[in-house]
Amino acid sequence: METDMLTSVKGMEFNYVAHGVGPTLVLIHAFPLNLRMWEPQIKALSDVCHVVAMDLRGFGASQTTDGDFILEDLARDVQQLMYKLGHQRIILGGLSMGGYVALQFLKLFPDQVRGLILADTRAWPDTPEGREKRFAMIDEVNARGVRGLAQSFPQNAVSQVTAGGRPELVDRLKTWILDTEPATIVGAQRAMANRPDFTDLLPHIKVPTLVMVGEEDAITPPAEAERMAQLIHGAQLAKVPGAGHLSNLENPEAFNQAVKAFMHQFVS
Ligand code: MLT
Repeated sequence: METDMLTSVKGMEFNYVAHGVGPTLVLIHAFPLNLRMWEPQIKALSDVCHVVAMDLRGFGASQTTDGDFILEDLARDVQQLMYKLGHQRIILGGLSMGGYVALQFLKLFPDQVRGLILADTRAWPDTPEGREKRFAMIDEVNARGVRGLAQSFPQNAVSQVTAGGRPELVDRLKTWILDTEPATIVGAQRAMANRPDFTDLLPHIKVPTLVMVGEEDAITPPAEAERMAQLIHGAQLAKVPGAGHLSNLENPEAFNQAVKAFMHQFVS
């Protein structure tokens, strides 16, 4: 793993890693994880591009927050960090919550995106039940902290094969969640519950787009990825075998192969 770097943006400290040369691929992590989830990608993809992975506010080693933020703040954090690092046009990849941030970024800064990777995510808002679950989780975290989430999320997120065969991965996910401040969890859940509907944006996407999904993803199932890919002109769809919601961690070989094939069009 590359050495982490901390830099100040808008008076907040952000943690990121950068590796490789070539077109810049920025990777945005899932909830409630951090940039460590991209470890199987950072070095592996760096022979085709310059990979930057960052911790969103409050997550990983970025500065803690009071939880008072909306999705747009997260997208603006990414943009400010990229500006500071001198990256004017990027290929933006996000998994799940990272995908929501990527779509919000695209909506705000369309000229700064030259390619898009949307993994295990969706463009539309939560169902009413999904929203209620978020508010129940907020109550639970406010009352009892993040322990319940650290138990439930890894089991729900990964495929049965991963859960049974890779206990060390499940343990790492738990540790990352236990290391996250309750205020960040609550803030991110609220930001996701109130996120905009990006469905209307999809037919207007003009940049090459790769939609990815774990074949066993129970949180954002393949049917949702298919629907998104259909709505984006010329989008490619890659299904990751044997993987659940955390497709990049569960089957990094297949995930990286699809991303590398996609990235080749940006390499001059
Ligand atoms: C994630 O993995 O980022 C979350 O499952 C996203 C969500 O809660 O919608």
